[in-house]
Amino acid sequence: MTLALLATKKLGVNYGGFNALSDVELTVAPNTIHSVVGPNGAGKTTLFQALTGRIKPSSGQIMFNGDDITSLTGDRRVRLGLARSFQVTSLFHSLSARENLRLAAQGRFPWRALKIWQGAESNEQALAIADDTLAKVDLADVAARPAEELSHGEQRRLEVGMAIASCPRLILLDEPTSGMGIDDIGAMKKLIADLGRDHTVLLIEHNMEIVMNLSDRVTVMQSGRILVEGTPSEIRDNEDVRRAYLGSMITGGRA
Ligand SMILES: Nc1ncnc2c1ncn2[C@@H]1O[C@H](COP(=O)(O)OP(=O)(O)OP(=O)(O)O)[C@@H](O)[C@H]1O
Ligand SMILES: [Mg+2]
Repeated sequence: MTLALLATKKLGVNYGGFNALSDVELTVAPNTIHSVVGPNGAGKTTLFQALTGRIKPSSGQIMFNGDDITSLTGDRRVRLGLARSFQVTSLFHSLSARENLRLAAQGRFPWRALKIWQGAESNEQALAIADDTLAKVDLADVAARPAEELSHGEQRRLEVGMAIASCPRLILLDEPTSGMGIDDIGAMKKLIADLGRDHTVLLIEHNMEIVMNLSDRVTVMQSGRILVEGTPSEIRDNEDVRRAYLGSMITGGRA
């Protein structure tokens, strides 16, 4: 059996008395696309925030590539290869797409960025990563445009590019297609499929068509717990999953 890239053990998050996550045991195998789905408020984003170090778990452990990272800062986790999920709001709006990616790439070598005498070398490396990433997220044509002038779909792809530019082993994407029109959804779907070839992707997504077509594994959450995990077809046929979705989104897109 291959070593899990990511594994949580009895992970719990408590917000002032409310258990947003309880006993979550998630295992992500390397080189897979693993989706996390579940009704609104199930705890999916909370899980990602605990994984990236944005919030502190109240119980349990997070293992990444065999190391216990539960008490590491977010920056240390990025350096170990766990990509922070960026939001459109965290882009540098007046800087070009390429500059945004260069900065994200430099985040990977922060100790070098601080050493001015090595600046030129690391800058060249970072620019090379930025250009490689521009091609991957299909933004080479608009590389010089300020982020704020990009379309919504282009901004969302840049956001994914920011995660890729840190050269991660695991990329976490929280609803990358939310608020997108049909054309942009197609482009994002292709991008996620491409990412799955070189990386491990942990994906929160409400669009069931994307989840069912791209995922190797699917974990369904409900009320802060894992309800069931399996292949897309196992999940599709599961009675408990159908029940969990009754009365919430079942249509494969959110209003
Ligand atoms: N900072 C917070 N303080 C208190 N409660 C919170 C906080 N963040 C989230 N919650 C609560 O924790 C639960 C899980 O929220 P979370 O955002 O993780 O759900 P989700 O599965 O990502 O939902 P969605 O599909 O709507 O994005 C919800 O009941 C939410 O109201
Ligand atoms: Mg969420």
